[in-house]
Amino acid sequence: MKLFLRGEPNPRQREFFLARARHIAYGGARGGGKSWAMRRKFVLLALRYPNLRILLLRRTLPELRENHIVPLQQELYGVARYNSTERVFLFPNGSRLKLGYCDTAQDVYQYQGQEYAVVGLEEATHFTEEQMRFLTTCNRTTRKDFSPRMYYTCNPGNVGHAWVKRLFIDRQYTEGERPEDYVFIPARIYDNKVLLESDPGYVRQLMALPEELRRAHLDGDWDVHEGQYFPEFSREKHVIEPFEIPAHWRRFRSMDWGYNDPCCVLWHAVDGEGRVYTYRELYVRLMRADEVAAKVLELSRDDERIAYTVASPDMWQKRGALLSSGGGFEGETLAELFASKGLALTPADNSRIAGWSRVREYLAAAPDGRPRWQCFPCCTNLIRQLPLLQFDRLDREDAADGNDHAPEALRYGLMSRPHAAPEPKLIRAKAYDPLSLPEPSGGWFSS
Ligand SMILES: Nc1ncnc2c1ncn2[C@@H]1O[C@H](COP(=O)(O)OP(=O)(O)O)[C@@H](O)[C@H]1O
Ligand SMILES: [Mg+2]
Repeated sequence: MKLFLRGEPNPRQREFFLARARHIAYGGARGGGKSWAMRRKFVLLALRYPNLRILLLRRTLPELRENHIVPLQQELYGVARYNSTERVFLFPNGSRLKLGYCDTAQDVYQYQGQEYAVVGLEEATHFTEEQMRFLTTCNRTTRKDFSPRMYYTCNPGNVGHAWVKRLFIDRQYTEGERPEDYVFIPARIYDNKVLLESDPGYVRQLMALPEELRRAHLDGDWDVHEGQYFPEFSREKHVIEPFEIPAHWRRFRSMDWGYNDPCCVLWHAVDGEGRVYTYRELYVRLMRADEVAAKVLELSRDDERIAYTVASPDMWQKRGALLSSGGGFEGETLAELFASKGLALTPADNSRIAGWSRVREYLAAAPDGRPRWQCFPCCTNLIRQLPLLQFDRLDREDAADGNDHAPEALRYGLMSRPHAAPEPKLIRAKAYDPLSLPEPSGGWFSS
């Protein structure tokens, strides 16, 4: 076996190899040998347990290819057969190591109903919590000699920062999560003697990074700025106890339409001072347009007078091939379909940067100290997604596309309202793109 598997694990990698918890994360600094360890561990498992089914995922295909497929092809040449159509390594003992990626939110659903005794998420912080939760459901087996396990490698930052930090660093658990199921092994670049010797410049590059990036990438510090688009969002300030909304307050709705992607509808009320309260949320996937319309009307109580409903402007496009995803007939727009079901829509202002800046205005405190926007605890997707929104890698004033359907709906809603106050100073992106390492760092903080 040693013949083709060259290299010895360093002490941290050994710890990773020996861990037996249900969820095992190896994370922190860059270059510590996390990817190497994940790859090697999976090969060892495949060889040790006949007919083992293993799934190794990375967020995008190019990353997957470079980081794993190519190295594995080299390491396993003559040992396991690679089927490039299925992207799977087949071992002589029947074990299968499948390599996949989850570029869009829906990509995870291709694993629906599948069974993998071992699932690995490479750069787990690039996965959303939803994706991770879904993949956990594929992590099962009926065999007696092996209990299912999930492996994660991770660096601080990116969309998954929050859930990785909660589970493995802060160790705060919710119902159904058992602390003993989660193990974290910290990675340090200084553990990786091979890299230190072969590329001493790499550490120097990391040391030369701006303070916050250095802390994240060299020290593996999880408490640095997380690249959050709305760091000002806080549950304490923005989520309030529900109250009876006075009948005379103005109410309106906003909708981010989606069929394959989630569809989010929010209900808002405005008090005498112009403060906006989001008091209800509908968040559904794969629901036809006529069903969504019926559901929205059903949820709106009879005594609620809704002034208007703003919705994604693309709902005014004529549809053809997309018909199957929304119901209705050819040539009809989704907006017309909604109207025919009794729900008239108004196109939302979809200027992204102005819209996010409007959201920021409303998140800020009014002179009385309370934020200009608050929501009820039932808006669970909105509450979860707002803090997860990340700065766009290319356009630092914009938020990155991602799992942001509830914040989009909020943005549409608030764009239909006047400015809350003089525009607050735009918070400059402290975000960064972990993928760009080890590229020169000069551009990251320049504006
Ligand atoms: N135990 C080891 N033996 C030989 N090479 C290793 C070992 N661990 C890591 N490496 C090499 O060090 C480099 C960085 O490791 P990698 O796993 O990519 O780090 P990380 O994923 O933590 O950023 C890679 O070239 C990798 O092949
Ligand atoms: Mg890596």
